[in-house]
Amino acid sequence: MIKKTLEEKAFKHLKEKMEEGLLPQWVLTDPDIYELEIEKIFGYSWQFLGHETEIKEPGSYVTRWMVYDPVILLRNRNGEIKAFLNSCTHRGTQLCTADRGNKKTFTCPYHGWSYNLDGDLIGIVAGNKVYGEEMDKSEWGLRPIPKVESYQGMIFGNLDPNAESLEDYLGDMKWYLDILLGRSGGMEVIGLPQRWVAKANWKATTENFAADPYHVQTTHRSTVEMGISPEDPLYAGYGHQVVMKNAHGINVITSKTGKARVPFQGTPDSMWPLFEQHLTPEQLDIQSKVTVFVGGVYPNLSFVSPIHGTEGDLHNYLNFRMWRPLSPEKVEVWCWFLIDKAMPEEYKQAAYKGYLGSFGPSGTLEQDDTETWARIVEVSKGLMMKDKELNYNSVSNYLMGYKRVEPDENFPGPGTAYPTTYIDSIARSMHERWLELISKDLFVKEESR
Ligand code: FES
Ligand SMILES: [Fe+2]
Repeated sequence: MIKKTLEEKAFKHLKEKMEEGLLPQWVLTDPDIYELEIEKIFGYSWQFLGHETEIKEPGSYVTRWMVYDPVILLRNRNGEIKAFLNSCTHRGTQLCTADRGNKKTFTCPYHGWSYNLDGDLIGIVAGNKVYGEEMDKSEWGLRPIPKVESYQGMIFGNLDPNAESLEDYLGDMKWYLDILLGRSGGMEVIGLPQRWVAKANWKATTENFAADPYHVQTTHRSTVEMGISPEDPLYAGYGHQVVMKNAHGINVITSKTGKARVPFQGTPDSMWPLFEQHLTPEQLDIQSKVTVFVGGVYPNLSFVSPIHGTEGDLHNYLNFRMWRPLSPEKVEVWCWFLIDKAMPEEYKQAAYKGYLGSFGPSGTLEQDDTETWARIVEVSKGLMMKDKELNYNSVSNYLMGYKRVEPDENFPGPGTAYPTTYIDSIARSMHERWLELISKDLFVKEESR
């Protein structure tokens, strides 16, 4: 049972402010809020574990984290995907210390117990001499992650055995994931996921990706100065911001006119028949006009599918990233590069280089963002922050506070689609979901004592 020192009074204040659409700044660094988030959000939400192409062969595995829960994700001999707690059932040490590999069995480095790919305990050093015949090995297998399901090759885990199915949880977001991941029949991960620790609060990083194209023209100003992005300060605002159930969201950014300058910009024309084959006419319409997809699956998976490069040498790829909270002020970023399996090999390599130059620890765009996230937590801990709020629009569908925006009923995709991405609709829905989850049963236990 976690300690809940967050006073009821402070919580009421938080709730009132958030009903006005304001986000109290202290929630970005408060340790009690962080504890609630870990227990009540990450204990019950679907968290991304990896992509099927990372564990292609029987016996291949990767090690991952669901916040503080260590996970071995593997493919067993029958080709099934399994996930177990990466902790030995004898004395608890980390069972597998490698990031990835291929094994028939996992042997513990402490006393040598070994487990097969179904998690069964199959070997005990000095077995019968130490434990005798009565030791029932079947009781001491690896502990499975309660729920593991995949969608479009993306494998997720959930620590709550009663969680709704992944497909129900994703809801309308599946329609967009079908474009991002299914447009040509399947994506693959290239390279290892990059991993680094950033000074940031996970709420700020997820919001930056899922909900905030407005930062692009200022934070990433250097791209304008280099001539890669247009001068128009509204350029990342054209298109639609789509809000969905469970606070998932996507921004479908287009050119100013909403029309494609060339169809499927940045992709080779050899791919276009595949897009036509795998997408519905509505999905195809969106894919043909989009310049950037950027969004998130709540709580901590973000994605961006940009077109990068210079005229005549443009590349499109997909970057997924998982923000693993380490503290109120720290996240471990896990960052994957994905591309259509069917893309020409040369294109894949060129796109991968483009990705490395923009995202990940060596990426210029990444460094721009990381700097602002670090400064948010740095300045949000002072005494004055206890009653100060941040600027989000008090009505969710206001364009940056001055003009009402109605949903675009003609947008071909599901969800509520606003005809601009410079809007706080996804951010607001993330905040609402956050408050709903962290406040669930919060004061019931105290009152019933
Ligand atoms: S802790 Fe693993 S065998 Fe003892
Ligand atoms: Fe950014």
